[in-house]
Amino acid sequence: MSLFDLTGKVAIVTGSSRGIGRAIAEQMAVQGARVVISSRKAEACQEVVDAINGRHGAGTAIAVPANISSKEDLQRLVDETSRAFGKIDVLVCNAASNPYYGPMSGVTDEQFRKVLDNNVISNHWLIQMVAPQMIARRDGSIIIVSSIGGLRGSPTIGVYNVSKAADFQLARNLAVEFGPHNVRVNCIAPGLIRTDFARALWEDPERYKQSTQGAPLRRIGEPVEIAGAAVFLASAASTFMTGQAMVVDGGVTI
Ligand SMILES: NC(=O)c1ccc[n+]([C@@H]2O[C@H](COP(=O)([O-])OP(=O)(O)OC[C@H]3O[C@@H](n4cnc5c(N)ncnc54)[C@H](OP(=O)(O)O)[C@@H]3O)[C@@H](O)[C@H]2O)c1
Repeated sequence: MSLFDLTGKVAIVTGSSRGIGRAIAEQMAVQGARVVISSRKAEACQEVVDAINGRHGAGTAIAVPANISSKEDLQRLVDETSRAFGKIDVLVCNAASNPYYGPMSGVTDEQFRKVLDNNVISNHWLIQMVAPQMIARRDGSIIIVSSIGGLRGSPTIGVYNVSKAADFQLARNLAVEFGPHNVRVNCIAPGLIRTDFARALWEDPERYKQSTQGAPLRRIGEPVEIAGAAVFLASAASTFMTGQAMVVDGGVTI
């Protein structure tokens, strides 16, 4: 059997209507997982569900819209997944926000709190909702999509970077707490990826040049190039790995 096989596994991927989350959900389905597509917009989620079910058969994917800022929405996401698929083996906390661009001196308390709420506390909520059943089964993989921003300083996305650094620590801490129960928690730290989220950094040719000239691979990444790391972290290929941050950035941080 392939170490990367996910047959029989159930995965929730937040923010999977497009971008990195969609690529992760699609590639997990390719490996045999049943996947839950979630974002704020029901219609966008259903489109992804239809595409996955068209390729892999009805019942492979379901849509459960949820706003990560709402605890009630996240509880419904977990409850509806359990009702439809019976269990959750893999949780990918991928959705995040970055509503503020500029130096930390200019951020309002409200903006700062929003970033911490959406990028850190909401991950904590969702993990606390899913972990008990993983612990009871002594099997589970939790993946947080952080960012190389969490490893570096920045004059413009410092607030976001603080939240992404906190995600690394969240993973380390929970890895310690859940490790004795055979539940693993890891982060992926992508570099610049061609999605709507980072559009401002790659759409304009001048910005693109700036973003990539110091990168060993001399280009930005595609969403599917993050999906392999998620499949690895979800699968038997990574059963001895926990609490880590996997950097996938075309070499930028080296
Ligand atoms: N792109 C990059 O260069 C890059 C680099 C490093 C890290 N990352 C990280 O990668 C992750 C995914 O980003 P992406 O680039 O794939 O972004 P994206 O293409 O903009 O997709 C974001 C996804 O999250 C959903 N979403 C946004 N706000 C949400 C909310 N409040 N509740 C629920 N879902 C929400 C969006 O759908 P709706 O609008 O329908 O809700 C969409 O499905 C994020 O954690 C980001 O920080 C991205």
